[in-house]
Amino acid sequence: MHAPITHVLGARPNFVKAAPVIRALAGLGHEQRVVHTGQHYDERMSDVFFVQLGLPEPDVNLGVGSGSQARQTAEVMIGMEQEFTENSPSVAVLYGDVNSTLGAALAGAKLGVPLAHVEAGLRSFDDTMPEEINRRLTDQLCGLLFATSPEAVGHLAREGRPVSSVHLVGNPMIDTLLASLGKFDDRAARAAHGLTGRYVVATLHRPGNVDDPETAARLVRALHEVAAEVDVIIPLHPRGRATLTAAGLLGEPRVRVVDPLGYLEFMSLVRGAAAIITDSGGVQEETTLLRVPCLTLRPSTERPITITSGSNRLVTTRDLAAAVLKACDDGPYAGELPPLWDGKAGPRIARILTGWLNAPGGGGDD
Ligand code: UD1
Ligand code: UDP
Repeated sequence: MHAPITHVLGARPNFVKAAPVIRALAGLGHEQRVVHTGQHYDERMSDVFFVQLGLPEPDVNLGVGSGSQARQTAEVMIGMEQEFTENSPSVAVLYGDVNSTLGAALAGAKLGVPLAHVEAGLRSFDDTMPEEINRRLTDQLCGLLFATSPEAVGHLAREGRPVSSVHLVGNPMIDTLLASLGKFDDRAARAAHGLTGRYVVATLHRPGNVDDPETAARLVRALHEVAAEVDVIIPLHPRGRATLTAAGLLGEPRVRVVDPLGYLEFMSLVRGAAAIITDSGGVQEETTLLRVPCLTLRPSTERPITITSGSNRLVTTRDLAAAVLKACDDGPYAGELPPLWDGKAGPRIARILTGWLNAPGGGGDD
């Protein structure tokens, strides 16, 4: 017997990625512990995902909440240090690139906790994004690195991570998507929001887009330009609410602004959309699989495979309206999907973790 496997979850994208890993490990009979850092805490940013994705209730919530980059990361470190000291895991599994991920990695590494990173090796090479710093440092601290795409494997090799620690396993976010496909109902989603014709879904929450009032104003003008041609619905992340509202987002009737949606309602809308406007990481991947044209309002992406394998394109506010109209007219892209985005990443990760725990001299040896 080995100690429980601890999963550290904090923010919305973590929940979507962890669900298939936790399910697959449960299927292999592992004892598991779920720690919620509390980085995201609104019902619509957190609880709804636990219910809809069948995630187990967290064993503990650290209640970290919102704060500056340093404060939030530090609060996670303090909480995770206590958690790891009181409940020493056989391995801690960390997800993605949020502050909770790095805080847990730093606390765990200093206590000698074996660490696994799901979604290792993604790089935007843009250090103005806190996520890029979180990713790079987390990958340096974790001994098991689970990559979603071949270029991520290359980045890890170039950064000196041992080949034996890196595993190309596919994409657990896509596992969740494929497992939920039968529950998406775009007709109901359309009816719920009074969308009768062609529509575009937008999600925007990157500091680079929504924190600065002038940038937010440019963004709102661009969204209004799009709305002059096609209905736009925005499930608005709490981060952008104040600046985008102050910039006049609500002043155009063809822009529908709604609260963040539950996973099933959100993906139902995305599946039925003519195109997506986003700065989300996960949405770039989900639209690749669903073959919905995606316009990413960012200067770079850590997920270039969504451009080479899907219909993702990087755009600026200046060319947004024209790009959306072209994407709506061009329709879906039928290219080859990224390797191993087949719904089996969770089971692959579970098998590798089990092998590692059971190996002589491996993490599971008491
Ligand atoms: C975080 C992640 C980002 C990820 C995003 C997913 C970091 C550095 N950023 O960004 O990588 O793409 O989550 O959604 O970890 N807020 C609420 N309710 C909540 C959570 C947040 O109102 O439940 C508001 C607070 O005003 C808070 C702000 O949103 O200050 C930002 O939240 P935070 O967790 O710091 O970063 P995100 O922008 O959500
Ligand atoms: N999502 C959702 N409801 C929403 C917006 C997003 O369920 O209103 C889901 C969607 O699956 C997305 C995931 O949450 O991929 C993570 O979203 P987010 O854009 O917040 O994080 P990122 O991937 O940019 O880190």
